[in-house]
Amino acid sequence: MLAQVEALALKVTTPFYCYDESKIDFQLSRMKAFFEGLDAFPGFAMKANANPHLMKLFLAQGVGMDVISSGEFLSARCAGADPANLIWNGNIKSLDEMRWMCRQGLGWVNVDSFQELRRWKSLMDEGVERLPGLFVRINPEIAADTHPSIATGLGVHKFGIGLYELAEVMAFARLYDLSIKGLHVHIGSQICDFKTLEKAYAMVCEEATKYGLKHINLGGGWGIPYAEGRELDLLELRRVVRDFLKPFTVFCELGRFLIGEAGYYVVRVREVRKSAGACLVITDGGMHHLLRPSLYQAEHGFSVFSPDGDEKSKMKVMGRLCESGDVLIPETMACLPQEDSLIAIHQAGAYGFSMASHYNGFPLPSEWLLKSSGEWQCIREQEEAGAFLHAVPGGMEC
Ligand code: LLP
Repeated sequence: MLAQVEALALKVTTPFYCYDESKIDFQLSRMKAFFEGLDAFPGFAMKANANPHLMKLFLAQGVGMDVISSGEFLSARCAGADPANLIWNGNIKSLDEMRWMCRQGLGWVNVDSFQELRRWKSLMDEGVERLPGLFVRINPEIAADTHPSIATGLGVHKFGIGLYELAEVMAFARLYDLSIKGLHVHIGSQICDFKTLEKAYAMVCEEATKYGLKHINLGGGWGIPYAEGRELDLLELRRVVRDFLKPFTVFCELGRFLIGEAGYYVVRVREVRKSAGACLVITDGGMHHLLRPSLYQAEHGFSVFSPDGDEKSKMKVMGRLCESGDVLIPETMACLPQEDSLIAIHQAGAYGFSMASHYNGFPLPSEWLLKSSGEWQCIREQEEAGAFLHAVPGGMEC
């Protein structure tokens, strides 16, 4: 892949994102092996990456989608997804959004709170023709060993219905003929300890059995190796959960696992500044495109193309924005790049482009897909300068 990235960079303006179809296929095959022998409906969490051209790859392999917003829903539709196979997640869902999703023929929804369930009831009272299949998201009080900002399974987090409240919620649903199809659990993202996931899966199965429910949704959260190399033992996870998952129809919404390692964020070095502490490698990219290192202190792998010799020195890779926190690679020992060298930042396929912004007025970068045939396909053009003015009345004419 890296040789092809270098070739692409000869004709494409940096910074850009690119993705490797064969890596996506490989991760899909690992996911399918995990679910083999189970009655499973695996899904992709579009919040990780919502490019419709990438969604087409998932759809072609029979994978459904989890959407958060009408924007992601439209992107899934644009890729050709059947709304009946889409799952709607979200912490807050307004009545207007709920009506809109019902009109679109949304298949499934994960209900995040008692208040939300009451809103679904009020829609039923309004005479809305068809509600989506309702899953209740439980909050199982399980701590996940991950960055605190992406852990979701404890009572202090804003997600899901506590087990102490579940009986009341189920009684409410029964009383008003709201048919609950199943339970959902998602305790966080980038989880590498299989025992934590086992605990959450066991709990959702136990609660579903209590209420006679046959469907469960395991959420996402499977971790991938970043620079530090920690990895989820998927074979072991399958070994310990397979038997108790067997009686259920199992849904999931994996994001990072399916696309994280397939993506690269490619930047060009503009200046190498030797400061008192370390060498500062300043590139034409930044946290406006890849926020993870500055937001979560995430350490991504990286490759420097045509470095300045093979001796390693202390260096830090930065972006071009007006913040000292604009870091792409925190301090590390590596071969110093030269001015104009390319740097490919690895594991950037998930929560890379999808979290990009127009900060400092820069355009969003282009995205490219390396097809299994070996050809590059442009799957998003780089925006023009000033794209962030589009929604400002008269903005483009000022
Ligand atoms: N299902 C639900 C309900 C979720 O909230 C999420 C992720 C997923 C599935 C997919 O999780 P995954 O398989 O990708 O771990 N921006 C952060 C990650 C935030 C995850 C939010 N929810 C990051 O860059 O690490």
